[in-house]
Amino acid sequence: MCGIVGYIGDKNAYPILIKGLQRLEYRGYDSAGIAIHNSSLKTFKKKGKVNELETFVADKDTRGYIGIGHTRWATHGEPGNANAHPHTSMNGNFVLAHNGIIENYAELKEDLLKKGFVFQTETDTEVLVNLIEYFYNLNEVNNAELAVRLALSKVVGAYGIVILCKNEKDRIIAAKMGSPLVIGIGQGEYFLASDAGPIVEYTNSVIYLNDGNVAIIGKNSLTLKTIGNAPVNFKITKIDLSIGDIEKGDFDHYMLKEIFEQPKTIQDTYRGRIKPEQKDIVLGGLLDVFPKIVQAKRIIIIGCGTSWHAALLAEYLIEEYARVPVEVEYASEFRYRKPIINPGDVIIAVSQSGETADTLAAIKMAKKQGALILGICNIVGSSIARETDAGVYTHAGTEIGVASTKAFTAQVTVLSLFAFKLAKARGQIDQEFYEMLINEMLDIPDKVQTILLRNSNIKKVAEKYKDAVNALYLGRGYLFPVALEGALKLKEISYMHAEGYAAGEMKHGPIALVDDNLPVIVVSAKDGYYEKVLNNIQEVKARKGNIIAVVTESNNKLRNMADDIFEVPESHPAVAALLTVIPLQLFAYYIAVMRECNIDQPRNLAKSVTVE
Ligand code: AGP
Ligand code: GLU
Repeated sequence: MCGIVGYIGDKNAYPILIKGLQRLEYRGYDSAGIAIHNSSLKTFKKKGKVNELETFVADKDTRGYIGIGHTRWATHGEPGNANAHPHTSMNGNFVLAHNGIIENYAELKEDLLKKGFVFQTETDTEVLVNLIEYFYNLNEVNNAELAVRLALSKVVGAYGIVILCKNEKDRIIAAKMGSPLVIGIGQGEYFLASDAGPIVEYTNSVIYLNDGNVAIIGKNSLTLKTIGNAPVNFKITKIDLSIGDIEKGDFDHYMLKEIFEQPKTIQDTYRGRIKPEQKDIVLGGLLDVFPKIVQAKRIIIIGCGTSWHAALLAEYLIEEYARVPVEVEYASEFRYRKPIINPGDVIIAVSQSGETADTLAAIKMAKKQGALILGICNIVGSSIARETDAGVYTHAGTEIGVASTKAFTAQVTVLSLFAFKLAKARGQIDQEFYEMLINEMLDIPDKVQTILLRNSNIKKVAEKYKDAVNALYLGRGYLFPVALEGALKLKEISYMHAEGYAAGEMKHGPIALVDDNLPVIVVSAKDGYYEKVLNNIQEVKARKGNIIAVVTESNNKLRNMADDIFEVPESHPAVAALLTVIPLQLFAYYIAVMRECNIDQPRNLAKSVTVE
């Protein structure tokens, strides 16, 4: 996880680095640190968030035109001052900030200990910086870039790294394997960051490093090569991201801003893809491979967390309408469980960040077995987007709140369009039904807006249940993934234990939890499951559970049975998830605010999980 930044140029590096770290804080906030190259190499680091680092360095001399920084999500060694990055090599020749995991750190460390190296921290990263120093000190080397490349040739694992060498005051060395790293190109200056967020206010010209790239960056020069010293050509990409996209504006939290953006983001996602004049859906990124997708024997969709929930919903949609068998897998399971992948299978990776390590590893594994790999990602140019054969961007804009909201509805939008298009192309639905689904989708943004206008009611209900210890979310059919997503939102940001269940499963276990303290959130629509859900509700009521029901306007029976309701507009069941999830996002948000939790940066989590 974690975020790394770097700067080299004519400006003071410190303010640029600090601002960059603030923009990357969503990636980790166990500790923050910076190193500045002035007449000497100075390092400042502090446990906690970036503002604690700022307070700590307020009275210190941070002048200098070259620097690196890091905001950590600990994998090896507890969060604390000592384990904070950047790490310094034993003799002080190098400082290094790292995102990722050095998997063979234990054996490398053992070797270095034998060679007399002494370690100050429990991190895997300190092993790497000392390994670089070891190669640097070998008589014939004494060259930072070569030392870095020699060290990396011994390393197994994932890294995005930025490095300063005490004796080479005119450069930053950076390298990437598995973890993301972007270089921003300015006038006589370069910026480095884990994503483009910290860079956009200075330049929109960037280079996304590829795995195995080593960059040697001076203020007026940039060289890319492989670890083995072969030259690498690079491509400059123009990014389309503005500062407004990554600032909070008038909202108290990024999460609330992102929830309220959904009428627009859903529209952005389908804009240009739904062609109302031709009454058709066109997914430009899939055009070349679409004939192959239509012939697919099976579709396997992989993802993690919220993206997995979107995938699960897609399974229901694709199987019902396009009649293609679908399997949905947690990427972390899929990558290791030796799955059977046949020719004719299509794999779809769903990921907001496009950097999730498990998802990335899963598609690399499937690619080796010859499957067609598609990506549904939010971040343009991300590793998963680049690793896949074709794909569709979700266009939800930058999502900064760690709890995913607008990215989920954007994923569901793309996957729904995909399912409808596939159903039509396979002749499973007729033009009239296809057009009806398209129109239902076009109506979603206005309906989401209606729900958002009712947020004061959702806040009132949250007030009533904010002290609950557990919560149960139930749904069936398309609304089962919504129940899972609602429960995930609540536990992530409010730390209240919540479980999502298929409503019909309740009687097989979770019903034992029901008593008069348990809020049971029932997500339902007037679909084929409606009467069944009503029965499930009776079962909860008989045991004195409190029912909060997400209901549509005409949902009278359910409305009368519930203790509290969140009303959503009517829709076709195939798109109901896009509406019913909205009150659940707001409910989790308000409960977390009332419990005084850190909304945008919940404990122990990070936005982009670039480690296993
Ligand atoms: C969502 O609220 C979570 N923070 C998390 O489950 C997330 O969805 C998961 O880590 C997958 O991330 P990705 O979409 O960037 O791959
Ligand atoms: N493995 C390193 C550590 O624990 C880096 C973790 C990260 O990517 O945040 O410090």
